Amino acid sequence: MDPSHSMFHAPVQPSSSGGAALAAGAHVSGSPPLRPALPYVYQPRSILLTGGAGFIGSNVLLHLATEYPEYHLVCLDRLDACSSLANLSALQGKPRFTFVQGDICNAALVRQLCNTHDVDTIMHFASQTHVDNSFGNSLAFTYSNVQGKTYTTQAR
Ligand SMILES: NC(=O)c1ccc[n+]([C@@H]2O[C@H](COP(=O)([O-])OP(=O)(O)OC[C@H]3O[C@@H](n4cnc5c(N)ncnc54)[C@H](O)[C@@H]3O)[C@@H](O)[C@H]2O)c1
Repeated sequence: MDPSHSMFHAPVQPSSSGGAALAAGAHVSGSPPLRPALPYVYQPRSILLTGGAGFIGSNVLLHLATEYPEYHLVCLDRLDACSSLANLSALQGKPRFTFVQGDICNAALVRQLCNTHDVDTIMHFASQTHVDNSFGNSLAFTYSNVQGKTYTTQAR
């Protein structure tokens, strides 16, 4: 094998720990770079966030709205007993925030939201989280967490 094509022949630079690390965009003449010199930065424009009225989802929404005001945020939540719209009161009336009460198991609704809002990113936090409920109605619990997640991830 031509040694110039071996991954072990890429240039190295000292790391802060004293060892050697592959340089970003490390490249030996004649061989392809190990990774692009400029890192790819993902820039979402329109995010569908499920379960946004719950604990984790609402905090993520508030963070995104504060740090990335240019994002269009669409929240889909069924508003179960554990959730509260009060978690999102700071976002009410914001032009780039849309709240929709609905079920992630409604595939047509999820697809329609993706199309209407030109969604390019889905963040999925909707789930049945209370273990006690899983004892009483485990099938509904499983349906929501598995089927709903499948609809959400296949919407685009
Ligand atoms: N809370 C934690 O400390 C923690 C830690 C790690 C991971 N997680 C995970 O994060 C996710 C969210 O957790 P959480 O604590 O925010 O839960 P939560 O119960 O506070 O919120 C869940 C939200 O999902 C909504 N929801 C449930 N089923 C729905 C459905 N079929 N359609 C639409 N909306 C629906 C509820 O109305 C609620 O607003 C879960 O997957 C959980 O396992 C939570």
